[in-house]
Amino acid sequence: MSISPPSDKVWWKEPIEKTELIWISIVFVWGVFMTFMMPYWHVVGDQNLPNETYRVTPEQFMAKAQGMVDQFTVGEHGPQKTPIVHPPAGSDVYLVARLWSWWPVLELEKGQSYRVHLSSLDWQHGFSLQPANINIQVVPDYEYVVNLTPDESGEYSLICNEYCGIGHHLMIGKLLVVE
Ligand code: CUA
Repeated sequence: MSISPPSDKVWWKEPIEKTELIWISIVFVWGVFMTFMMPYWHVVGDQNLPNETYRVTPEQFMAKAQGMVDQFTVGEHGPQKTPIVHPPAGSDVYLVARLWSWWPVLELEKGQSYRVHLSSLDWQHGFSLQPANINIQVVPDYEYVVNLTPDESGEYSLICNEYCGIGHHLMIGKLLVVE
């Protein structure tokens, strides 16, 4: 149809080709279907975490995280000497994303529920908890709260899954779940 120039100058007044109409209808119906899938899956699917979000400045968030670290540090991890923090079961815990690390290392107890607060101090990062495959966008100035109840002990990796510059691939953290 459009490979050669139209012979009729007012080609836009021609009736629409039948196959084109069929495709437009299919695409439209699919678009409507997918639009309804979004709220439906939020309620029915179990991979979307309902979360709370608050405004926060990087300074305020860092102060809260620092407060938790000062109170509940139980050790150090790795060459960066990242504090390992064991907060009380059921408490509010804080995880800082920044270029290019997750801070601190949280040590949680299996079967206990925590309110995990997430925020970034600088850039957009992606919180990816592996192998549980929980993924959350983390942007500065917003504090996300995720209710987390670890049901298996072990060592989990926190991967940044949002490209954040030259050290992005090194932005790997740790989360420990103990019995
Ligand atoms: Cu942080 Cu990629």
